Amino acid sequence: MFDFKYFTPTKVVFGKNKEEMVAELIKEFGGTKILIHYGTGSVVRSGLLKRVTDSLDAEGIKYVTLGGAVPNPHLGLVHEGIELCKKENVDFLLAVGGGSAIDSAKAIGYGVFNGGEVWDFYDNKRKATGCLPLGVILTIAATGSEMSDSSVITKEEGLVKRGYNSDFCRPKFAILNPDLTMTLPDYQTACGCTDIMMHTMERYFTNGGNMEITDALAEGLLRTVKKNALILRDDPNNYDARAEVMWAGSLAHNGLTGCGSDGGDWMTHKLEHELGGLYDVAHGAGLAAIWGSWARYVYKDCLPRFKKFALNVMDVENKGTDEEIALRGIEAMEDFYRSIKMPTNLRELGVNPTEEELVDMAHKCAVGVGGKKGSAKVLYEADMLAIYRASI
Ligand code: NZQ
Ligand code: ZN
Repeated sequence: MFDFKYFTPTKVVFGKNKEEMVAELIKEFGGTKILIHYGTGSVVRSGLLKRVTDSLDAEGIKYVTLGGAVPNPHLGLVHEGIELCKKENVDFLLAVGGGSAIDSAKAIGYGVFNGGEVWDFYDNKRKATGCLPLGVILTIAATGSEMSDSSVITKEEGLVKRGYNSDFCRPKFAILNPDLTMTLPDYQTACGCTDIMMHTMERYFTNGGNMEITDALAEGLLRTVKKNALILRDDPNNYDARAEVMWAGSLAHNGLTGCGSDGGDWMTHKLEHELGGLYDVAHGAGLAAIWGSWARYVYKDCLPRFKKFALNVMDVENKGTDEEIALRGIEAMEDFYRSIKMPTNLRELGVNPTEEELVDMAHKCAVGVGGKKGSAKVLYEADMLAIYRASI
């Protein structure tokens, strides 16, 4: 087992109607003037935003609101949020929504706290020394941003999508009410389940270290999400399945399923971020579309773990060579994606890149990761291009 640091400062409040505690939680963490940040309208339509502002009004907590965080959230709105916070002396951020609203809020928090151009952090030009405190009311189980140290933003100019990680942006609290996810379109529920599984799989497919306890947690989480994704496909209003998936989403990306690993692989995510930046696809769907091509490209270099995944997560029969078992595990995962209507290649994702665009994405991806990345197999620009080509 490798040495590790496990830091999860987020207070999680889980269950029915827990958004009613929002004012109490903001006070607990010292917020006096709030920016409520949200997406493109689902929280308005569901009435959640109104319930939140009513709670703050009732407790005399001042706030301003800023909606409009699109999926693959934009830098332009982050700049707008930073200016609004400065003008209104905001000292606490409340994101109400999914990963996009949360990530956009985190970026606003970096911008206000550190000053200067906030994109510098995402562009690896400097490091943040803090972030405005942030709370979350989650409406989609997917990214785990409600507990993670990560924020992913797209710069409109050049369509560059980049992440920035630091413990400063981990939310102070996260309100997780599974009922709030009942209004999700089926497609977004499936995208969320895919992303949750991928956050664990990125940490699972490594070439480093013995991590028995972490593997057991990871495999249990993967089996749970796989099972409950199918339940939600057939019965989207199943509270218990929503609850299992929601908690799994937070645990999948708060670091727990990576303790003792070498840091994980993360190349499926890096390859997807280029797709998200260029074609504005849903993150989970993009991951599903690229994973099979990545897996077939790298599995021979990480055979023991692909075999373990096939046997312990995908319930593949323990018959034949390790390579045959590993390949059947990959096929079973793709069958699962298909069963929840996720794409398994770019065509099914609805994008049809030219060779020039593939070359461009591979180049941007390689630059974004500093030349090479991966643990199952270390990938360089030529490998990234080969995987994009195979994913058409
Ligand atoms: O914008 P609104 O109107 O809220 O609609 C959203 C959006 O269209 C809708 N939605 C969310 N909750 C809903 C709902 N519709 C009905 N009822 C509800 N309860 O669903 C759509 C997707 O929302 P979004 O926030 O974009 O989804 P997600 O949570 O998947 O976030 C995706 C973004 O997070 C990044 C992704 O790259 C992408 O930009 N990620 C962030 C990570 C992190 N910070 O740790 C890690 C991830 O790997 C990921 O990269
Ligand atoms: Zn993800």
